[in-house]
Amino acid sequence: MSYQDEPSPWRLEWSDAMSVGIPEIDAEHQHFIQLVSELNESIIARMELEEIKRCMQAILADAAAHFAHEEVLLKAWGYPLAREHAKNHARITLALREIMAGLHGMAEYEWIDAGLKVKQALIEHILNEDMKYRDYCCASGGERITDECSVKCADGEPRQSS
Ligand SMILES: [Fe+2]
Ligand SMILES: [Fe+2]
Repeated sequence: MSYQDEPSPWRLEWSDAMSVGIPEIDAEHQHFIQLVSELNESIIARMELEEIKRCMQAILADAAAHFAHEEVLLKAWGYPLAREHAKNHARITLALREIMAGLHGMAEYEWIDAGLKVKQALIEHILNEDMKYRDYCCASGGERITDECSVKCADGEPRQSS
C-alpha cells in the first residue's frame, strides 16, 4: 500500500454512532464533518495558508449557525442543561477562533495539530454533549420535541409531537 492509500489517522467519516436521531441536526453535523474533512485535506495537500483559512472560516460560520439552531431547539424543549450547553458552544467557538488567529504564525507542521484540535473539539461535543439532549428527548417519549423536529430513539420509532 502506498503512502497515499493509507487512511489518514484523522480521517473523519459519519457513522450512526454520531446520530442524535434528529434528521435536521444530523444533517448539520454531517455538514460539519464534511467541512472538517475538507480542512484536513487542505492541510494534507499542503495548500496555501489562505485556503486553510477559508476552510476554517467555513467551519466557524457553520458552527455559529448550527449552535444557534441547537440553542433555540434546546430552549423550546425545556432542556435543563440548555444554558450549560450554550456555554459549551461558546467555549468551542472561542477555541476555534483562537486556532484560526494562531494559524498565521504557525509552521506548516503545526497546522496538522491545529486541524486535529478542530476535529476533536467538534466531534467530542457531538458525542458527549449533543448525545445528552438526545437522551433527554427520548426519555420524554418525544413529547418535548417541537413540530419542526422529530427524534428517532433507540427503539427505532420516530417520535414527533402532534
Ligand atoms: Fe451539535
Ligand atoms: Fe451542541
